[in-house]
Amino acid sequence: MNVDHVATIRQARGGVEPDPVWAAALAELAGAEGIIVHLREDRRHVQDRDVRLLRQTVQTKLNLEMAATDEMIGVAAEVKPDLSTLVPEKRQELTTEGGLEVAGNPSGIGSAVERLHAAGIKVSLFIDPEPDQVRASREIGADVIEIHTGRYADAAGQGDRRAEFKRLEAAFELGLDLGLSVSAGHGLNYVNVQPVVALGLVSEFSIGHAIISRAVLVGLERAVAEMVVLVKTPVPGLLEEWR
Ligand code: PXP
Repeated sequence: MNVDHVATIRQARGGVEPDPVWAAALAELAGAEGIIVHLREDRRHVQDRDVRLLRQTVQTKLNLEMAATDEMIGVAAEVKPDLSTLVPEKRQELTTEGGLEVAGNPSGIGSAVERLHAAGIKVSLFIDPEPDQVRASREIGADVIEIHTGRYADAAGQGDRRAEFKRLEAAFELGLDLGLSVSAGHGLNYVNVQPVVALGLVSEFSIGHAIISRAVLVGLERAVAEMVVLVKTPVPGLLEEWR
């Protein structure tokens, strides 16, 4: 469960509520098996204080999303999240737009992976579902790949969506064949997550916007609990419809 959006609402007034640390505790009580926050360079939503408190309060796993910069590697080395997910970061973007360019910059990303490993932190790379990116991630020693599901989630028609679904499946399979743990995230919601779950290839889902959007209407605990059921319950026969 990604709680960045809770911090976004707090920052809209610059006050103390709602507190993403409280939201994380409620999410865990409702069945979330990990808490994710993205500490951005511009601190537009999550703050350093959130990350430090979450390190003390999260009972499941803390995944710190971050850019591969010296500053962020320093924060991670101090806070020691259970996992650091390296993401590309642009100031102008509304959310993380594309995957990390690992194949085109193996030494740059590789040195960040090495430094995080030296601090005892496992590393996930957020990449597009492209074979070159998956292979490069393996080569530079990533522990986990998080495959970007945004193009699948945003596909306009059923034809495009099926094509994107196939790309996801191939990337998940390649990652697993290479011995990586495979996660998925971005744009997943209560409808489009089910076919991905049905593949049975993804060990973790990283979901924020859809859960917080539903939480505004039905409450956080219900929104989290409903998503937990979806990601844990493959729908029989659903995959056949997608093949
Ligand atoms: N994974 C990564 C790496 C992300 O940057 C984000 C967005 O913060 C997500 C997953 C979650 O995406 P969404 O909010 O669309 O569920």
